Amino acid sequence: MTRDPADLPRHTTAQRLVHWINALCIVLLALSGLAFFHPFFWPLVDLFGSGTWARILHPFIGVLMAVFFIVLFLMFRQDNLMNAADREWLRRLDEMAGGDDRGMPEQGKYNGGQKLLFWLFAACIALLLLSGLAMWRAYFDLPGTLVRIAAVIHAAVAAVMIALVIVHIYTGLWVRGTFRAMWYGTVTRPWAYQHHRAWYRRVGRR
Ligand code: HEM
Repeated sequence: MTRDPADLPRHTTAQRLVHWINALCIVLLALSGLAFFHPFFWPLVDLFGSGTWARILHPFIGVLMAVFFIVLFLMFRQDNLMNAADREWLRRLDEMAGGDDRGMPEQGKYNGGQKLLFWLFAACIALLLLSGLAMWRAYFDLPGTLVRIAAVIHAAVAAVMIALVIVHIYTGLWVRGTFRAMWYGTVTRPWAYQHHRAWYRRVGRR
């Protein structure tokens, strides 16, 4: 991949590091969590050494992710506040998905879809953390009914979270030139002009 000095900085090293720690945690959590969810996925525990190790590590990785997600949340929150252009963008999502984004409202650093995903991630992680802690018998001793309710919430929200991450990865791949924003931290000017024109108008002229 060629890099140009005129490329625009998009994510700092700290932002990328925190992002990829979150990404690694969610992959490990999904793999171990699926193994506990259904016998079909049980062989996945071998990735963690054994079923016992997977069971021990899963909640610790969950807490680690929650801590790093709080850092990520604080870093990205400001750029993910919804405005009128984002709501309009979301209303006309079908045009975008149809491949014709010419008439779409100009987007800032992140588009309405990315922002919506950001807040859904935050809500899911809060619910996963609370329901996960409620089930962590090694440290908390809650009544059985509460633990059973927490288990249902945990499984349902985890399924939603996995779906959201798949959408997040798919949209990153779908819009060519996006991955490098999180890998190298920069994007090309044409990419910024095409997909985040309001942001480009703000930072591209400097
Ligand atoms: C699992 C694999 C993941 C991959 C491959 C991935 C990939 C990417 C890429 C390419 C971007 C750059 C988008 C842009 O600059 O427009 C990005 C942005 C971002 N990602 Fe991920 N990501 C992953 C997981 C996660 C997870 C688990 C979270 C948090 C729970 C997360 C949160 C974010 C946030 C907050 C942004 C900035 C966009 C925004 O703030 O709306 N990502 N990701």
